[in-house]
Amino acid sequence: MFWKSLFPGVIGSETATGTGERELLITEWVTANGERVPIYFSTTRDIDVYALESLCDAVGWAKRPLRKVRKALEFSFLVGSLWQERGQHRRLIGFARATSDHAFNATLWDVVVHPEFQGKGLGKTLMRQMIRELRRQEISNITLFADPQVVTFYEELGFQPDPEGIKGMFWYPN
Ligand SMILES: CC(C)(COP(=O)(O)OP(=O)(O)OC[C@H]1O[C@@H](n2cnc3c(N)ncnc32)[C@H](O)[C@@H]1OP(=O)(O)O)[C@@H](O)C(=O)NCCC(=O)NCCS
Repeated sequence: MFWKSLFPGVIGSETATGTGERELLITEWVTANGERVPIYFSTTRDIDVYALESLCDAVGWAKRPLRKVRKALEFSFLVGSLWQERGQHRRLIGFARATSDHAFNATLWDVVVHPEFQGKGLGKTLMRQMIRELRRQEISNITLFADPQVVTFYEELGFQPDPEGIKGMFWYPN
């Protein structure tokens, strides 16, 4: 099935791997020298933690212990990623993951697009794919914690801050 009509900007058909992971051609990126490079959305968990941390580093996020990052990937309900493909080489350029109770609720974490690829609609496409995957698994309540500078980005995707006055609350060790 072609998803173009449902998801603007998505140009390819979806493929499912033997492990149930999905992959979708979402756009062709035109480089400075006019080369057209495909960009894929994938739900693979097979993500190099060094590449992931390098992506997070590129947006200025604090370094995390790789052992914990591996564990977070392993125990996430859904892992979504964006890949730029050049010949045999794939570069991780976007990432998001969701934890869940597998029934009602999911929370999105680590939403990131590499600065070289920001501002071209990829973040929105990544989020729409994450929502679609969660809805496919009948998750109806999707939450996230937005940094102040990205509240508008999430609002444009349909997220509401503090619905009905509900406040996110945090406990931190002293
Ligand atoms: C937030 C982020 C994922 C958005 O990815 P992106 O590919 O740049 O987003 P898009 O190009 O799809 O932008 C979609 C829309 O959101 C807006 N937007 C993107 N980043 C924004 C920001 N930081 N603040 C406000 N609006 C933003 C864009 O202007 C665009 O609006 P438009 O559709 O009306 O033109 C990306 O900027 C990023 O990785 N930032 C650093 C990491 C981060 O802050 N993650 C979120 C943690 S809660």
